[in-house]
Amino acid sequence: MTFTEELKATAQAMVAPGKGILAADESFGTANKRFQKLGIPQTVEMRRAYREMLFTAPGIGKFLSGAILFDETIRQSTEAGVPFPTVLAEAGIIPGIKLDAGAKPLAGAPDELVTEGLDGLRDRIAEYYGLGARFAKWRAVITIGNTIPSRHCIEANADALARYAALCQEGGLVPIVEPEVLMDGGHAIARSLAVHHQVLHAVFDRLYLYGIHLDRIVLKPSMVIAGVDCPQQASVEEVARATVQCLRDRVPASVPGCAFLSGGQSDELATAHLNAMNQQFKGQLPWTLTFSYGRALQQAAMQTWMGQEANVAAAQKVLLHRVQLNSAAALGEYNPERETAVSHA
Ligand code: 13P
Repeated sequence: MTFTEELKATAQAMVAPGKGILAADESFGTANKRFQKLGIPQTVEMRRAYREMLFTAPGIGKFLSGAILFDETIRQSTEAGVPFPTVLAEAGIIPGIKLDAGAKPLAGAPDELVTEGLDGLRDRIAEYYGLGARFAKWRAVITIGNTIPSRHCIEANADALARYAALCQEGGLVPIVEPEVLMDGGHAIARSLAVHHQVLHAVFDRLYLYGIHLDRIVLKPSMVIAGVDCPQQASVEEVARATVQCLRDRVPASVPGCAFLSGGQSDELATAHLNAMNQQFKGQLPWTLTFSYGRALQQAAMQTWMGQEANVAAAQKVLLHRVQLNSAAALGEYNPERETAVSHA
């Protein structure tokens, strides 16, 4: 199989109906911050044990198409010595890798960020392919404020996303293209919609310029949502309508699917929003809409685990339940009454 066919097949599999992606690619800093909050020791071994808990949850492969790993994690193994990429592949979950090196202050654009990590990327991609990764992630961050985002910030981030995507497709990894518009701030949903339009326009413009094959990417967008500090919060239906309207206007039909980030939404809201989109627009969309959540899949499981071996099975149950609910939402079949039910997967 050439890369062309492999990339197409991988991209399709990543957004297969009823399946989503577990984002477990927190960098050292982010992983440690979450552990610290719960009083879990911030060590290599704890991060390894935590990821083993996630990846070996019984039955999880039924609802997950992929899992995104951090550099440290893709090189780690289960306690029994099985490399994580192998554990995932055996469960039917495609291993992916975070390729960006984080968002850093953008020179000349106060309060704005640009994602770094392009230097040496071709060689890193080759190494990760060898370690079993078949897709990758790069997250660009766009902040909404009174006078931002600037065109400078949007274009710089779109350019980096396109350069990353081109290198990925050359090296055999399906690029997840993730332009995250933050929900921090007091803006209304209409402003979020306008910024999402602008950002997605710039991103697809650059992807076109760089010759990216759109049938071999997965888009990871944020949802169109009012800022967390906005007194006027939109209803679940409004969020679903605005988000789908924006994606319809901006995302070409050849893209196989969009896998949303959760971005700080509560677990239940992230699920309800995804479900509303799939329910309201069933059969009307050219691409699949699914999840690629980090916090909204992991939060409850981490709080159950708390770094204790004795809690592994309970935490895995919590994770499985959350993943199962989101799988239902990806089909527009989520029932909020099942929130309190124990998993029957
Ligand atoms: P959240 O769902 O926690 O926003 O994380 C998803 C992700 O991968 C961010 O890059």
